[in-house]
Amino acid sequence: MQKIIILDFGSQTTQLIGRRVRELNTFCEILPYNKFPEDDKDVIGVILSGSPLSVYQNDAFHIDLDRLRGRLPILGICYGAQLISYNYGGKVESAGTREYGRQQLQYIDHACPLFKGFDEHSQVWMSHGDSITKLPEGAQIAASTETVANAAYYIPEEKPIFGTQFHPEVFHTLQGTLLLKNFVVDICGSRQEWCAEKFVESTVQALREQIGKDRVILGLSGGVDSSVVAVLLHRAIGDQLTCIFVDHGMLRKNEFNDVMRDYQGLGLKVIGVDASDKFLSDLAGIKDPEQKRKIIGRDFVEVFNAEAKKITDAKWLAQGTIYPDRIESLNITGKVIKSHHNVGGLPKEMHLQLCEPIKWLFKDEVRRVGRSLGMPEHLISRHPFPGPGLAVRILGDITREKIHILQEADAIYIQNLREAGLYDEIWQAGAILLSEVRSVGVMGDERTYENPIALRAVTSSDAMTADWAHIPYEVLAKISNEIINKVKGVNRVCYDISSKPPSTIEWE
Ligand code: XMP
Repeated sequence: MQKIIILDFGSQTTQLIGRRVRELNTFCEILPYNKFPEDDKDVIGVILSGSPLSVYQNDAFHIDLDRLRGRLPILGICYGAQLISYNYGGKVESAGTREYGRQQLQYIDHACPLFKGFDEHSQVWMSHGDSITKLPEGAQIAASTETVANAAYYIPEEKPIFGTQFHPEVFHTLQGTLLLKNFVVDICGSRQEWCAEKFVESTVQALREQIGKDRVILGLSGGVDSSVVAVLLHRAIGDQLTCIFVDHGMLRKNEFNDVMRDYQGLGLKVIGVDASDKFLSDLAGIKDPEQKRKIIGRDFVEVFNAEAKKITDAKWLAQGTIYPDRIESLNITGKVIKSHHNVGGLPKEMHLQLCEPIKWLFKDEVRRVGRSLGMPEHLISRHPFPGPGLAVRILGDITREKIHILQEADAIYIQNLREAGLYDEIWQAGAILLSEVRSVGVMGDERTYENPIALRAVTSSDAMTADWAHIPYEVLAKISNEIINKVKGVNRVCYDISSKPPSTIEWE
């Protein structure tokens, strides 16, 4: 299959480039800057990402551009553009002040194929401390802004080279998608064959070949990733698939039963395991968040293994790993700070092979695949929910009573978001019980001394960064009223207005 390679020089927005290319129905891979594949017969073009570094620093990331030049069209974005310039006789210097934010293009060379169809004064997004003060040899200016003369350039060769100082991948570059389409489709010649329907067709076929008559085990979580894997596998191998869904007792209100019903409605063979007694007794009295996580992780593996072992002839373990879990992200030292992690802990004697059918998909693509498989919308558009569940949303030790309070408050919160039409705009929302804090209130004629509930809702595209969602006051007022009136044990509701970073999405 045709693909674009995106070489990552450590920019925050590299993944976004990947998603934009995929939105153009073109397969792409994001690789560390120094790992261009040996086998590149399917590669139709290369994109060089941005970076927090300066090309003239001693520890800057460099590559052998001659290996690519003349063989593939190249697009350098920000640092990528500077790198090309630096290597081919241009000059890159500190801009003195960082240029950050919206700019308008004042000049566009419409003969440059990268800018085909661009409007005059198109808005672009800049974020750079260095500028290209001299273009590489043979290059022409393709676009300028009021302050940046070399905002974009091109070297018109048979396999042309382009550089943009601005970031076409970000939302604030209003014609960024057009620019990327010009590159990927017109210049690189993508046939735009990557789409959910084709993915389903080819993956089902590949799974049949891979698995044959073997049996497969899959751990379901109720989330979209593992659910999509289940339905894909079910379509490929039917009842050779057995799913295991563990209830640790800290799911949302009614979630275990609702999700079991959904799964059964989809025709899946699911073993539901109520292990809440085990989890809650092992967690009794534990307040430290990391300890909670460790206990839950350990118990989960134990419970899952005990069930999995009963399926004695299983040969495969399927997982809902998705592409962002596997992209090796770099930090400024060039060291990989995140690499592929498999769920460990399965008994070795089971000799299970790993099957990860959606490992190439971004989250939005997983959802598209789910829709194309005909899965119910509420299962597909469900907010992410952490593995340890409400355990990391109860600050303090965990008891059944606290879980009950939080489930009730959370259910009111989520229902109101749905009724207000806000649920789908929000990446993730949930209530948090501050069980170690008590405050005074008055209900009727009685003094109360009870716990607060904090509400968290964020907008995000990948959970790496997030902003608090600007829920209208009227909706918050209704939620607060309803929670305090209906949930015994809660006399105060607060709204969390912290972004990530520096806060995280979960409180623990
Ligand atoms: P944070 O709190 O780190 O969360 O901003 C980022 C995303 O990850 C989810 N999350 C988890 N998911 N096990 C999971 O499966 C966990 O231990 C866990 N902790 C956080 C969180 O809900 C958010 O979507």
